[in-house]
Amino acid sequence: MNSVPTRFGPSSKSAPNVAIIGAGVIGLGIAWRLAAKGAAVTVFDRGAAGSGASHAAAGMLAACCEAEPGEDALVALGRESQARWPAFATELLKASGIDVELRTEGTLVVALTADDQARIHHHLAHQKKLGLPLEWISPAETRRREPHLAGKLAGAVWSPEDHQVDNRKLAAGLRIAAEAAGATIREHTPVKEISIAGGRADGVVLADGTKVEADVVVLAAGAWSRTIGGLTPDQRPPVRPIKGQMLSLKMDPAAPLMTHVIWAPGVYMVPRKDGRLIVGATVEEKAFDTSLTAGGLLTLLEAAWRTIPAIEELAIDEMWVGHRPGSRDDAPIVGPGPAQGLVYATGHHRNGILLAPVTVDAVARLVLEGTLEPAIRPFGIERFAPPRAAE
Ligand code: FAD
Ligand code: GLY
Repeated sequence: MNSVPTRFGPSSKSAPNVAIIGAGVIGLGIAWRLAAKGAAVTVFDRGAAGSGASHAAAGMLAACCEAEPGEDALVALGRESQARWPAFATELLKASGIDVELRTEGTLVVALTADDQARIHHHLAHQKKLGLPLEWISPAETRRREPHLAGKLAGAVWSPEDHQVDNRKLAAGLRIAAEAAGATIREHTPVKEISIAGGRADGVVLADGTKVEADVVVLAAGAWSRTIGGLTPDQRPPVRPIKGQMLSLKMDPAAPLMTHVIWAPGVYMVPRKDGRLIVGATVEEKAFDTSLTAGGLLTLLEAAWRTIPAIEELAIDEMWVGHRPGSRDDAPIVGPGPAQGLVYATGHHRNGILLAPVTVDAVARLVLEGTLEPAIRPFGIERFAPPRAAE
């Protein structure tokens, strides 16, 4: 499927009227892109804009060091988005006045023991086959880069192109940019269902029963995407919530304990410019449970302390829970939905911040021109269709 059957694209006479369900970084980014090209855009969120997974994330742009076997197409998508990030951040700064603090120190994947080293080398062999720019460095070199690392150290993988942004600033900036371009954002306005008439999406029905007409509906409700009505169960995107607990500690911004993003066994740590140190995250199949648990936080803090013992002196800043929109194969679902005029932009799981630039550009092209960018072609909903019985 190479084109979305909307009535837009080059031959359309007027810009489309688009309803977007969900004001996370994906919905807000699409709204910005579409409104800037003249579309009439309304974004609906059941709560405050940017308060879902986009608020909870760590903001890592980890296309290389998170690459796992069996995810080659996803790695390619991540690399494409990673390449777009610097220009995206600059453009957003211009459009919104918000600096998302793209930090380019890179990432270290630290091995504390020989066991960690063996496991990391196993992954590294696969990652190198994909041509990813990753390199093993010695314990001395690792310590030179991060002097506060634990006394016992086996070395690290150095990932010079895996950077980070402040995801909360990203959501705030996208909101400002979308509104400045003319989009309307309706917070605390849950969508009950997508309205489908004659095989095409013609708007959304709000929780209070009001129907809002639209030419195109974009489903970008993150982990909640499957809960939106109007579609048969098999047409709904196979997305489920993957709970993540996380916390932040307060470092002295003038003398931070680390400057790189650090991955270590059982934990990652992301230092922000303002001195916050993000420590994450659990990965739990607990539906929409929002509880912070002693076990979850203990595991994270212990793993962080084993890696950087000096964190024990830091004050706790904040603790929170978020829900990643996990699809059945952990890759996003981006492309035409099962009705005309319906577009899916969901299922970004652990990488929605990384994948925001490529997703929002591709969806804007799909809606306005009817074309599918090559980068997103492998990520359509049709990949989950049951195999047809032999005739
Ligand atoms: P969301 O931000 O969840 O937005 C969906 C919106 O839809 C919400 O605001 C919600 O209120 C709204 N909604 C729901 N139901 C309705 C309804 N009925 N009507 C209207 N609106 C509705 N990604 C990275 O790239 N790097 C990371 O380091 C990273 N770390 C993460 C750490 C944690 C702990 C978590 C939880 C996620 C992390 N992610 C990371 C993943 C990333 O946060 C998500 O993939 C991304 O934010 C998804 O964006 P979204 O806009 O699709 O979803
Ligand atoms: N990508 C980091 C996380 O999802 O926890």
